[in-house]
Amino acid sequence: MTAAPSSPISVLQCIDCGHTHPLDDPVYVCGQCGGLLAVEHDLERLRPLVSRALFDSRLGEVEPPYNSGVWRYKELVFPGAPAEHIITRGEGNTNLYRVPPKLAAWVGADRLMLKHEGENPTGSFKDRGMTGGMTHAHLVGATNAACASTGNTSASMASYAALAGIRALVFFPHGNIAMGKLAQSVAYGAVAVQVQGDFDACLDLVRQATRRYGIYLLNSVNPFRLEGQKTIVFEMLQQRRWRAPDWIVLPGGNLGNTSAFGKALRELRALGLIDRLPRIAVIQAEGAAPFYQSFREGFAERHTVTAHTVATAIKIGNPASFVKARRTLELTGGIAEIVSDQEIVDAKAMIDAAGIGCEPASAASVAGVRKLIANGVIRRDEDIVAVLTGHLLKDPDLIIHYHQGTLDGFQSTYANRLRTITPDLESVERLLRGDNAPGLAPR
Ligand code: F0G
Repeated sequence: MTAAPSSPISVLQCIDCGHTHPLDDPVYVCGQCGGLLAVEHDLERLRPLVSRALFDSRLGEVEPPYNSGVWRYKELVFPGAPAEHIITRGEGNTNLYRVPPKLAAWVGADRLMLKHEGENPTGSFKDRGMTGGMTHAHLVGATNAACASTGNTSASMASYAALAGIRALVFFPHGNIAMGKLAQSVAYGAVAVQVQGDFDACLDLVRQATRRYGIYLLNSVNPFRLEGQKTIVFEMLQQRRWRAPDWIVLPGGNLGNTSAFGKALRELRALGLIDRLPRIAVIQAEGAAPFYQSFREGFAERHTVTAHTVATAIKIGNPASFVKARRTLELTGGIAEIVSDQEIVDAKAMIDAAGIGCEPASAASVAGVRKLIANGVIRRDEDIVAVLTGHLLKDPDLIIHYHQGTLDGFQSTYANRLRTITPDLESVERLLRGDNAPGLAPR
């Protein structure tokens, strides 16, 4: 998009019909055709302003906003955001790990790195989107904000809303949210509502309610969220000295991240900050895989399902960002794949035992890499970055059940059983000898 210098540097643009809205319009779908909106920046005007050197020069910043791994790239996220409206917790700045040898061998990958988005302030990548979305909410004077969530968006929104002084209303599926996430929403002071329905029903309800009552919507259909989430890709590339990997592999639920990653790559290439595009592989849980089903059929049809998976974060049957995500795959020669719940919990156990740790949905990405290498889709010597989306402590119940062998319907393939002893040295000696101590033998 090119425009005269007097025109705004960013607009809201419909991805289907191209109709534009001003940036301060709190709308989430196109007023003309109902399509998804994206924030489109005038890249020609940004071109002389951005460079690898600019982003590198901000790495040592200690003050907000540039100490944030989102606002470091402000020109490509929300160039017009006034400093006084930026709601930030210094999010991002997450580690990019080279996987330890044992995990690499288990996956079958020679060159695998893990971008750990669970290291954000509230323990998931959602903080990167939330700082963008909440800044816009603050800018337009919102007093109430709402989201539907499988738990991480709500935790993040509750925290950022508290900082912004905006009332947070979070809606999640009753009984289908991990304990760590539920606790966060309550602790950060949100109006926390359990809905007797699944995530898809929650999102329907919230979209209707925000329209009807003029509440600011903070799900990832909010395009300012996706602008923040693009920085996962920016930061990962900067950590790699702007060398693009062959593959970026991530879990897919509502498909906001998949959409954001495609937009990030498109913009970086247009600005000459990278010279080639990695391929994106989206991994869905077998029982929550509408996008995979459509991908398999060349996107002839948009599927929806009633979702079932132990990875509650991605238990989503009607992904809101479906169309944008499809474009990401088209842009990058990307693919979709599925993994079973057993593969997810086993991959999680291996990532955890490597000392890195993540929540179940995140492990889908590593389980996916393992499967794609085993099937010959990814070569073992290719350069791969898998994204871990959430922190290990988000879902402690699943961990304990898995390792105790009490996770219903699952094998605890890599169990590390908790042991109980009497308080005497004899018991300790028995432990050290490994006598009758299930799980103490080398795994
Ligand atoms: N991983 C984690 C840990 C998540 O919380 C989510 C989504 C995803 C992956 C999927 O990302 O939706 O961009 O495809 N969680 C949302 C929530 C839906 O409400 O917290 P996506």
